[in-house]
Amino acid sequence: MEIWSINVMVLVFVALPSFQAYAYTKNTLNIDCGATTQSEDNTTYLRWETDDEYTKTGNNEFLVFTNASFYPMKTLRSFPIGDKNCYNLPFEPQAKYILRAGFYYGNHDNLLKPPTFVLEVDRKLSVTVTTSLDHVPFISTIESQQLYGKDTYKLMQNHTALYLEKRINYGANETFPERLSIDADEFNRIWKPEEIPSYRSLTPGFDVTITGWATHSENYPPFAVLWYAIEAYNSSESIFLPVTFQEKKSQAAYFVFYFASFVYYPNITSRTVSIYIDGEEKVLTEIPDAYKGIFPVVSIYPVNTTNGTVNVTISAVEGSPLPPLLCAMEVFTTMSEVVSKASDHDYINFSLVLVFFLVLSLSLSGL
Ligand SMILES: *[C@@H]1O[C@H](CO)[C@@H](O)[C@H](O)[C@H]1NC(C)=O
Ligand SMILES: *[C@@H]1O[C@H](CO)[C@@H](O)[C@H](O)[C@H]1NC(C)=O
Ligand SMILES: *[C@@H]1O[C@H](CO)[C@@H](O)[C@H](O)[C@H]1NC(C)=O
Ligand SMILES: *[C@@H]1O[C@H](CO)[C@@H](O)[C@H](O)[C@H]1NC(C)=O
Ligand SMILES: *[C@@H]1O[C@H](CO)[C@@H](O)[C@H](O)[C@H]1NC(C)=O
Ligand SMILES: *[C@@H]1O[C@H](CO)[C@@H](O)[C@H](O)[C@H]1NC(C)=O
Ligand SMILES: *[C@@H]1O[C@H](CO)[C@@H](O)[C@H](O)[C@H]1NC(C)=O
Ligand SMILES: *[C@@H]1O[C@H](CO)[C@@H](O)[C@H](O)[C@H]1NC(C)=O
Ligand SMILES: *[C@@H]1O[C@H](CO)[C@@H](O)[C@H](O)[C@H]1NC(C)=O
Ligand SMILES: *[C@@H]1O[C@H](CO)[C@@H](O)[C@H](O)[C@H]1NC(C)=O
Repeated sequence: MEIWSINVMVLVFVALPSFQAYAYTKNTLNIDCGATTQSEDNTTYLRWETDDEYTKTGNNEFLVFTNASFYPMKTLRSFPIGDKNCYNLPFEPQAKYILRAGFYYGNHDNLLKPPTFVLEVDRKLSVTVTTSLDHVPFISTIESQQLYGKDTYKLMQNHTALYLEKRINYGANETFPERLSIDADEFNRIWKPEEIPSYRSLTPGFDVTITGWATHSENYPPFAVLWYAIEAYNSSESIFLPVTFQEKKSQAAYFVFYFASFVYYPNITSRTVSIYIDGEEKVLTEIPDAYKGIFPVVSIYPVNTTNGTVNVTISAVEGSPLPPLLCAMEVFTTMSEVVSKASDHDYINFSLVLVFFLVLSLSLSGL
């Protein structure tokens, strides 16, 4: 995993019947801020565009000395002038989007002082970088991806943004790519591989990075993610996952659990697990053998993040011959109406410090 990049993801449900910013829209948009030429990403096969069309302010900059192996991070746009600098993006009304902004501070201003700044998605759905007092704000990448399918992130409320806390590909080790190609993930999501020593990692044993996605499952999970899982060593043991949130206050969280059982057991065609949140049983779900083509996805919303932690427990139901397993989990916190979000992130030797805010305005509905 590379700590130099911070990717913040939100899902924005936009209901703007009378608002049309652009005559055209794009399902997938990848902006390499500050770049002078477009490029094709050899890992994901996505095309990175320059930002000329989307912003009128700021300076193009190129990081000469950088360890940023994710090449779109090598260019950035900095905004030395102005209180607010906007990117106008071609969002479509009444649609859901994943929006991800990347920031890589490579000491481009020679100050050894990474800026803090505010990023807003305002009521016209432009992305705005707001200057703080003594820093020059900048942005390295903006990615937006429309989420289609009527059941996609279906518990999401109108006029809401979800802030991504975690998206974990359990059972995959750190050599497994976080970014999959467009042949493997319909929605350009970043799945962090994670093994947990106290559980068995189930791995496919062959290359699954271009295997498409489960079109009949909620949120279209990539098979590359479903093929991996963690599994308890026996059916009387539970999978216990304490989830900590960036903010300690209580918020409404959105959980998604992805299941698939690719391991063949003679004479056993399914297992049933219960999902407990803070000790309370929420959902019972049957996980059939993968050959049946059913890959259960369980969404739970809202979950109260009392004091910034939530304990997830997944147990096999009584009498189940097979232990519980889990392929992947996504955790979001809800940002409804006017909500701002701040978080400090890791940084390596000045490469990055970031305070990120996202604001989704209340007046969205009033336009
Ligand atoms: C992608 O691959 C092509 C052909 O191998 C190469 O010319 C190009 O430089 C690569 N692009 C990047 C950004 O690495
Ligand atoms: C970049 O990587 C090299 C070699 O791994 C290391 O010596 C150097 O300190 C790194 N530079 C920064 C700014 O992280
Ligand atoms: C959300 O918006 C859609 C489309 O405008 C509408 O049909 C639906 O009733 C709204 N849902 C809620 C819970 O307000
Ligand atoms: C990581 O996983 C791959 C595929 O499952 C495996 O081939 C490789 O040996 C693993 N590497 C480590 C360090 O565990
Ligand atoms: C199940 O696994 C746990 C943890 O590995 C162990 O403590 C327990 O004895 C096992 N139970 C059975 C019935 O094997
Ligand atoms: C969460 O629980 C706390 C205490 O149990 C309560 O005060 C708070 O209102 C709840 N928050 C939400 C978002 O439900
Ligand atoms: C498994 O099923 C086969 C027939 O499909 C049967 O012959 C065998 O006895 C079964 N094994 C067990 C352990 O139930
Ligand atoms: C979560 O689990 C930890 C460790 O078992 C425990 O200390 C904590 O009280 C639990 N929190 C909740 C909210 O149940
Ligand atoms: C949350 O934190 C407050 C203050 O630290 C404490 O009084 C309260 O008992 C905690 N609630 C839970 C459910 O842990
Ligand atoms: C970053 O590197 C410089 C020199 O290479 C060193 O003096 C400084 O302490 C490092 N900063 C951090 C936060 O590690």
